Amino acid sequence: MELRLATFDDAELLLIWRNDAQTRASSRNKQEISKKEHEKWLKATLADSNRELYIAEINSIPVGTVRSDYDRQFYELSWTVAPEQRGKSIGKEMVSLITKKINKPVRAEVKKNNTASKRIAEYVGMSLMYEEEGILHFQRK
Ligand SMILES: CC(C)(COP(=O)(O)OP(=O)(O)OC[C@H]1O[C@@H](n2cnc3c(N)ncnc32)[C@H](O)[C@@H]1OP(=O)(O)O)[C@@H](O)C(=O)NCCC(=O)NCCS
Repeated sequence: MELRLATFDDAELLLIWRNDAQTRASSRNKQEISKKEHEKWLKATLADSNRELYIAEINSIPVGTVRSDYDRQFYELSWTVAPEQRGKSIGKEMVSLITKKINKPVRAEVKKNNTASKRIAEYVGMSLMYEEEGILHFQRK
């Protein structure tokens, strides 16, 4: 697996993954996102020096995406695996690759019922800090 930085050419793919029902269920904003709104978000994301958006690829096939937001003391991570690629340890491998690149604390917010993402957070060495309103806050120091 390789991680590469996303570009605007990934817009369509990222929108499909973002609007997938399971992805929406795990997000804070459950609404379906329009193409226009998504493209605006992606442009802003690519221009944001505190944010990095990666595409994970296996044999040049995109299999997932992981985002990091730098907040001075830590990096906040969020991830999505392509719907057709789930349940094959891709999430574990992809998040592990990015956490190995980061030598500062990393955090992630996971919904309490998102068992696979809890496993991923634990697999990469994050521990549960606290739970608030059904959201688990994980951190690796
Ligand atoms: C959650 C998600 C990232 C998991 O990615 P994945 O590649 O399917 O997960 P993995 O195959 O790496 O599995 C991780 C662990 O969860 C378990 N798991 C996978 N799918 C599961 C499911 N549907 N229910 C329960 N456990 C599951 C795996 O068995 C594995 O456990 P292990 O550590 O004991 O081996 C993926 O399903 C996804 O993109 N969902 C929608 C978006 C989302 O939830 N993003 C995360 C927001 S924090």
